[in-house]
Amino acid sequence: MENPAASPVLDGVASPDPLFTPITINGRTARNRFALPAMQRASLDFRPTPRMAPTLRAVAEGGCGLIISEGSSPDHPAAYWQQVFSVIGDDTVPEWREVADTVLATPGVLFLMQLWHPGAIRLVVEGMSNPYPDQPTLSASGLVQEGRRNGRAMSAQELRETLAAYVHSARIAQDLGAHGVEIHACHGYFLDQFLWHETNERTDEYGGATLAERAAYPAEIVAAIREATGPDFVISFRFSQWKEVDYTARIAEHPDELGPFLARLRSAGVDLFNVSTRRFDAVAWPELDAKLTLPAWVKSFTDAPVLAIGSVGLSTDFAHDILENEEPRSQAEHDFDRVRLGLEAREFDLIGAGRSQIANPDLVSRVRAGELGAVRSFRKARDLAGVDEHFIHIGQIVAQSRKKD
Ligand SMILES: Cc1cc2nc3c(=O)[nH]c(=O)nc-3n(C[C@H](O)[C@H](O)[C@H](O)COP(=O)(O)O)c2cc1C
Repeated sequence: MENPAASPVLDGVASPDPLFTPITINGRTARNRFALPAMQRASLDFRPTPRMAPTLRAVAEGGCGLIISEGSSPDHPAAYWQQVFSVIGDDTVPEWREVADTVLATPGVLFLMQLWHPGAIRLVVEGMSNPYPDQPTLSASGLVQEGRRNGRAMSAQELRETLAAYVHSARIAQDLGAHGVEIHACHGYFLDQFLWHETNERTDEYGGATLAERAAYPAEIVAAIREATGPDFVISFRFSQWKEVDYTARIAEHPDELGPFLARLRSAGVDLFNVSTRRFDAVAWPELDAKLTLPAWVKSFTDAPVLAIGSVGLSTDFAHDILENEEPRSQAEHDFDRVRLGLEAREFDLIGAGRSQIANPDLVSRVRAGELGAVRSFRKARDLAGVDEHFIHIGQIVAQSRKKD
């Protein structure tokens, strides 16, 4: 699975820039190690707006190797939340086709479509349209965080229906020509609510004392998608320790829990682990002697490629920036030196830049040209102009009882 071309070059031969070495993931090659993580900002009425294709094209033409579409719901009534988020369903195929065709027109780009579900974070908010206002909110145990209930636990039948919706959406993505899908299981949303001990109280086969046990349902979804899409379709799995409702949350109290968790998902069919952190170079377990980042721990337990994401090029993490209005400074020069070291040391295989590529769709070209001083910082007012309302309700919901660091 690893790309042999990524090996360090020894004996005085000049190393190729590790950022610009192609990587092959389950037989599909991305031209370099840059990724655009899923960034919801161009959907309305549960479908992509005409703004989505040109926005992603700019990042593709800017040089990015792996592009992940905005988080979008499988077509299940409980996964519809606010109309500013897309659904990947039969009704939205025409809009998604334009997006997929546009991104795939750039050679060397790997294109994945992200499947995301709000789970217990879903609230039907007054003034926001929802085709299923009477649909109960469904999740692992009806919990947003410990002691904070919203909706209810899913029945076995609802679990089967939701799994079928994931598979259906993955098949649509495949029919559209996407190279794969990414399963969103992070930041406190639906599948993360299975992984996190605070939000999974199930006593059936989908709960349990260990992280690997609580990964049963996400792994079933991965396996079902693998079965339906065949061996060549790329499946990425995105997870995080932190949650929007709790920045200090942990799904794994100790790195040893990662081994069986990753192995379960890998054998279910995962080809890439997308490790979402608030800062890509932060030490994951400061109390341990081994001062490794979360992506580095993940890499130590799996042979699958690892994508690291979090504040690349910026002084302030996503949560403080988007949800609490702390404006970041650009620190591209510092961060890309660190990224190169991380790639060389095999801490991770790819690096995601979200806000930095929104502010600079040509970020990759600038890094290649060494023009790091010209990289702009992210400014919410400028870079999310017109899409800020996406976050108003998320902000209200998570602000209710957020634990901060
Ligand atoms: C506007 C915006 C939309 C986002 N949408 C998604 C999404 O759809 N799915 C997801 O997994 N993460 C989403 N995120 C989180 C980003 O993928 C990423 O993890 C975060 O911005 C941190 O990376 P950065 O520091 O490089 O921006 C979003 C973040 C922002 C700012």
